[in-house]
Formats: sequence, structure tokens, C-alpha cells
Amino acid sequence: MKIVVFNWKMNPPFLRGALRLAKASDAKNVVVAPPFVFLEEVGKILKKAQLAAQDLFYESPPTGGGAFTGEVSVKELKNLGVKYVIVGHSERRYKFGETDKIIAKKFKAALSGGLMPVLCVGEDLKIRRKGIAAAKKFVKDQLQKDLKEISSLVISRKSLVRNFVIAYEPVWAIGTGKSDTPQDAVEMIKFIKKLLTTNYKLPATKVLYGGSVDGKNIGDFLKYLEIDGALVGGASLKMKEVKGIIRVANEYSR
Ligand code: PGA
Repeated sequence: MKIVVFNWKMNPPFLRGALRLAKASDAKNVVVAPPFVFLEEVGKILKKAQLAAQDLFYESPPTGGGAFTGEVSVKELKNLGVKYVIVGHSERRYKFGETDKIIAKKFKAALSGGLMPVLCVGEDLKIRRKGIAAAKKFVKDQLQKDLKEISSLVISRKSLVRNFVIAYEPVWAIGTGKSDTPQDAVEMIKFIKKLLTTNYKLPATKVLYGGSVDGKNIGDFLKYLEIDGALVGGASLKMKEVKGIIRVANEYSR
């Protein structure tokens, strides 16, 4: 079974557009991440797809609320029927200065609060230019920092595996129209899976690829057994692409 996560980012500007997109995206094994403001209404449309948030705040007061202007808690998200949450997207890291320390806290808060984090990792162009070995080293380090808090979680390994997803998203491939090659993506994903198995005793964790995936190239990634799905940004806003992506994902999920 392959998973496709549609990340709408700060789009579309009106509810009407969001509802249209939601209808087109409502399919099995699809996860839809609209902006916070549309979560509730999009949630009402989705019958087969799951609802995701694009971010969360790590503080979770027992009441579910607190004095954190502009932030959204796990409880608030759960109350809207949200099941997944994107954590550590490169835009949060580089445009909003989120550190691995913050991301580790968000990852833990999501997991312990019962949301399924989709943890994004990936190297930037400067690192990738040094070669795939340098990229692997970077991703290993990022994972180590971002997963730091899981040892303090009171949760069994078995349920951990089922409760989070990693998305390998090379930063240079995001929104550029230049995806990674499927061969390199698979090499990195195998590397991540090996790390999760040996260092964290978390075999069988799902790892997705993200970065300029569209209806045309998604099959080139999903045909690899090791790639468990895709995180899609730009193409998730285009009806035609959405339909194509869902069709291909279904073919590979059989
Ligand atoms: P993209 O974005 O598909 O537009 O490259 C992917 C992402 O940001 O997760």
C-alpha cells in the first residue's frame, strides 16, 4: 500500500477552491494537508482520505489550550478530526528558522498526543553537490536530532512503527520542477530504512519521497518497493495532476 500526502501549503486563498480540491483528492490512501483555516470544512468533505495539518505546536496543556498566540495544539487538531501532521518541512526549517530541537519536540508532541507525524528530512543543494555520501551523512544527523525524544516516549516499538512516517525531501527538489532521480531517491530511502532498523529498532517504518512529484513522474518513484509513497506540494493544487497521481498510486497499491 502506497500513501500520497497532498501538502497544499498556504493555498488556496478561498474556501470554495479548497472544497473543490478536497473533493478531487478524496481517495483511499490519500492524506490531505490544507491550511489550518480550512481543516474543519475540508474534513467534512473527505470520506476516504485522511486529514492532516501542516504543522503543530509542541506545548500541550492538559486543557488543550494555553497562552501561545498564533499556535495550534495537538488537542485542537484532534478535535477537528486531524489524523496526520507534517513535522519539520524544509519551509518551516529554512523560512521560519525551526531548529532540530523544536522539530524533535513537535515530533514527540504529535506522537504522544495521538497524531501521526510525517517527519520531513533532506539535504540542501550545497550538501548534495558534495555527493550522495555527504547527503546521507546530513540526513543521518538530522534524523538523530529529530528523533531524539522518542526514547522518552512511553510507547512500544511495535506501535511506534505504525505511528509515524518519514518523508525524504531533498530541499533542492522542492518546488523546483527538478525531482531527484528515482535511483538516488531509492538509495537514500534504503539508507534511512536501514538506519531506522539498526539504530532505532524500527523496521518497516514507511518512508516517502517528496520534491517535484507530479502525475507524470510519480510512477517512476512508486514502482520501487522501498518507496512507500509520495509527499506532493505544487501538483496537489492542480485538479488534473491530482487525478493522475491518485490513479497511479492506486495502480501501485494493488
Ligand atoms: P513540491 O513540494 O511537490 O511542490 O516540490 C513538495 C513539498 O514541499 O512537500
